[in-house]
Amino acid sequence: MEAIYLIGFMGSGKTTVSQELAEKLEIAVYDTDREIVKLAGKTINEIFAIDGEEKFRDLESEVLHSMPLGDAVVSTGGGIIGSEKNRLFLKGKMNVVFLNADFSTIRERLKDDDTRPLLSQDNMEAAEKLYNLRLSLYREAANIEVDASGKSVSIIADEIILRM
Ligand code: S3P
Repeated sequence: MEAIYLIGFMGSGKTTVSQELAEKLEIAVYDTDREIVKLAGKTINEIFAIDGEEKFRDLESEVLHSMPLGDAVVSTGGGIIGSEKNRLFLKGKMNVVFLNADFSTIRERLKDDDTRPLLSQDNMEAAEKLYNLRLSLYREAANIEVDASGKSVSIIADEIILRM
């Protein structure tokens, strides 16, 4: 089976849903952020602070294009759709799922997070603006959109399987 790519904003549940999906389908699971950290030998915060966002985005594209093309679930970072090259890559795939959680759900989930350099707890308005800017890009890249607010991880994974 072709790989399943999960896309969506920070806090939409991509990591947990990808793990559940992989378990249900008995296939491997990958996370682009985790692969980037392995490749760079630094945390995401360190990459942004030391090398800059551009370097992070280069690593992110490199990792996306090196993921297995089959029998895997690939959870991606929320900004993966910022690059046209990545959007084109995803548009050519069969199973690209946009996990769409509403912003109040996202705000609640990320309220104590300090691992994401693009998120400032003092300026969640900026994150909401970014969320609104990216909505159309997630929709452009995905062929399945799932509402990920107020549902269990297992229900979301079942819905994805049904719609593939
Ligand atoms: C980012 C999302 C993060 C991570 C990095 C940048 C973004 O991944 O890749 O902090 O630009 O939205 P998650 O979506 O898994 O939080």
